[in-house]
Amino acid sequence: MESPFFERRGGRLHVEDVPLEDLAALHGTPTYVYSRAALVEAWQRFTSGLAGRDALVCYAMKANSNLAILSTFARLGAGFDIVSGGELRRVLAAGGDPRKTIFSGVGKTAQEIGFALAQGIRCFNVESASELECIDHVAREAGKVAPISLRVNPDVDARTHPYISTGLKENKFGVDFDAALDLYRRATRLRGVHIAGIDCHIGSQLSDPAPLYEALDRMLSLVDALAAEGIGIEHLDLGGGLGVRYRDENVPDPADYMREVFHRVGSRKLQLMFEPGRNLVANAGLLLTRVITLKPATRNFAVVDAAMNDLLRPSLYSAWHAIVQVGSRVAPLAPWDIVGPVCESADFLGKERQLALAEGDLLAVMSAGAYGMVMASNYNSRPRAAEVMVNGRSMDVVRERESFESLYALEHIPG
Ligand code: LLP
Repeated sequence: MESPFFERRGGRLHVEDVPLEDLAALHGTPTYVYSRAALVEAWQRFTSGLAGRDALVCYAMKANSNLAILSTFARLGAGFDIVSGGELRRVLAAGGDPRKTIFSGVGKTAQEIGFALAQGIRCFNVESASELECIDHVAREAGKVAPISLRVNPDVDARTHPYISTGLKENKFGVDFDAALDLYRRATRLRGVHIAGIDCHIGSQLSDPAPLYEALDRMLSLVDALAAEGIGIEHLDLGGGLGVRYRDENVPDPADYMREVFHRVGSRKLQLMFEPGRNLVANAGLLLTRVITLKPATRNFAVVDAAMNDLLRPSLYSAWHAIVQVGSRVAPLAPWDIVGPVCESADFLGKERQLALAEGDLLAVMSAGAYGMVMASNYNSRPRAAEVMVNGRSMDVVRERESFESLYALEHIPG
């Protein structure tokens, strides 16, 4: 877990040049903490294999949609992959470029399509025949032509957790591989759409890239079949999914992945697009929490002030996140289950972690930058955590801790 951005100095865990103890004293806990330098480094690592290539990286902002994160990537030249009208509004609020924004997702409403069209987004990733017709209709009504790509389901097993696997026939995503050619033919007859590309996304947190290459080859065979019919494809969007290291996973290096992709694409004239989410943010953030109570019993429970409502991944996917002590307490080590105060046995952040704990200690749940805060809820009427971005010695609150009043500010007691 140690990286130049999350380092122990003099026994105290720092994010860049900020000691987490100071950050907790100033901003309280639980708090998500992001390193700006780690975000920039992740972007550079992901894009290093793209120099001199015709490629566009659209950050899958569902992984973390805080405006400060979006603005960081927008300034680095990123486009965005969105899945809702709400996400598009965030892109605009953060100064992102709608012309570099692509719209994925299985359930786009006519209103969302109309709004995205009005903003001049780059492309709609179409998930069904019915959606294609809806986009055509909305575009013609608006006197516009919508750029589209068909999200093709390549029927490839991503071999990842079933909840984050999307490229099999039985998943709800995309157009069946066998039906894609026909749907493209239909699209050529629609005046409200322009065929721009083809896309796929087979799943998330892939540690073995082989299924990604298998999907790529299937996409390329379709591109060739379309070309043979005179249907030109301008861009190929390979989705996201490249895994990151949470523990000891052997994950692909993005540059190696790109090299293999370009090798397989060969001399075809295609702009390449990517939709990385996790890869750009997971290891740039942690969740800072404080031990409330120690409860040694049959199992040793350490109850902390962050819970499944703050970070759902362990409860929902049995995901493993490193949990480290912020201070320098040493022995005696004991196995602790790190659990939250929520009234569910599924409320845990980690199990059987060897830690030397005392009440009041600070812990950092690592690699929490992706699918952390975005999946947080107010379950048990818990205000959502604050978010802080560190940049060198400075720390900026990029989302305030929710107030208790905000929990019921939108509610009404009738009559
Ligand atoms: N593109 C599409 C169409 C997607 O559905 C996703 C993620 C991505 C790109 C980005 O994938 P990534 O590069 O982040 O793997 N909440 C789960 C992950 C859900 C992923 C959903 N789709 C988790 O915490 O593991």
